[in-house]
Amino acid sequence: MKKIAVLTSGGDAPGMNAAIRAVVRYGIGMGMEVMGVERGLQGLIDGAFKPMNMRSVSDIIHRGGTILKTARCPEFKTEEGQQKAIKNLRANGVEGVIVIGGDGSFMGAKALTDHGFPSIGIPGTIDNDLAYTDYTLGFDTACNTILDAINKIRDTMSSHDRVSIVEVMGRNCGDLALYCGMCGGAEVIVVPEHKMTIDEIVETLGDGQEHGKTSGIILLAEGAWHADELKAALVERTNMTIKTTRLGHIQRGGCPSCRDRYLGTCFGVHAVKLLKQGIGNRIVGIKDNKFYDMDIVEGCAMQKQFNLELYETAQIVSK
Ligand code: ADP
Ligand code: F6P
Repeated sequence: MKKIAVLTSGGDAPGMNAAIRAVVRYGIGMGMEVMGVERGLQGLIDGAFKPMNMRSVSDIIHRGGTILKTARCPEFKTEEGQQKAIKNLRANGVEGVIVIGGDGSFMGAKALTDHGFPSIGIPGTIDNDLAYTDYTLGFDTACNTILDAINKIRDTMSSHDRVSIVEVMGRNCGDLALYCGMCGGAEVIVVPEHKMTIDEIVETLGDGQEHGKTSGIILLAEGAWHADELKAALVERTNMTIKTTRLGHIQRGGCPSCRDRYLGTCFGVHAVKLLKQGIGNRIVGIKDNKFYDMDIVEGCAMQKQFNLELYETAQIVSK
């Protein structure tokens, strides 16, 4: 393979720039030309290609977001949209594509491979919602951002003897809430995979009060409840002062952690090595600290198992 393209798709995630940098520099190092595609799969349809060189990716490893920009593109789900993308890929002499994104974007990579353009997926999402890989790019940085916020919220909750519901992202996956709840010492962790009832939440907060706690943090995954909805239900049943904070997009931005720069770099290099051999339809991941790849369809079909043991441990140590 002589010419490849790289794009970022779906929600951005810290570490995507490290992956782009690795793809460009390792690809050029292996004797290939590398094109960047702006605004994800939409950019394939629009023909938004730009040649990348070693300097195109200078000074980006420490930057959040994605220098290639990203988008969600309903048109790419249609055969017509895919045909436009194929035409543009051919016109630019591109032979293979690296798609950095989540499982939706991986379906885009599969469609490209089905149309004769071997494509590789790199898991880029803060949600950590892909079963085939232990970690996705951006999850670690988002966790650190959330922990920083929890630390600050805890200071003021504790000073005023209040309880704060802190709502975090993750779509239908509770990993951000689980890991940050445990590591931020949250009194209650509410996740969609193991949703607590209002009675259980009230009981847990009551237990804390009996053990001398005067304030608390409820770490809430967005897929379980809306923060205001949960607050309304709790206010009816407790005498505690409840506050809410929805962290929102602050969780998606910021300087990537060491771990995300490492993952981005190694995922990028692994993906280039596959394409160089003409291999497509694979997604790159990390399992038990080893980088590996697997079939896109098989990987996306895997059901993520919620780490119940970790969840129960977190509840015990937060008492
Ligand atoms: P993520 O990649 O983070 O899961 P989305 O689910 O929004 O984000 O998917 C990103 C993009 O991937 C979509 O906007 C669309 O362009 C493309 N995509 C999603 N599903 C498919 C599909 N079944 N076939 C082709 N492309 C798809
Ligand atoms: O998939 C990443 C993510 O940040 C989710 O956690 C969240 O539900 C969603 O994207 C938010 O999307 P948007 O930026 O389009 O509001």
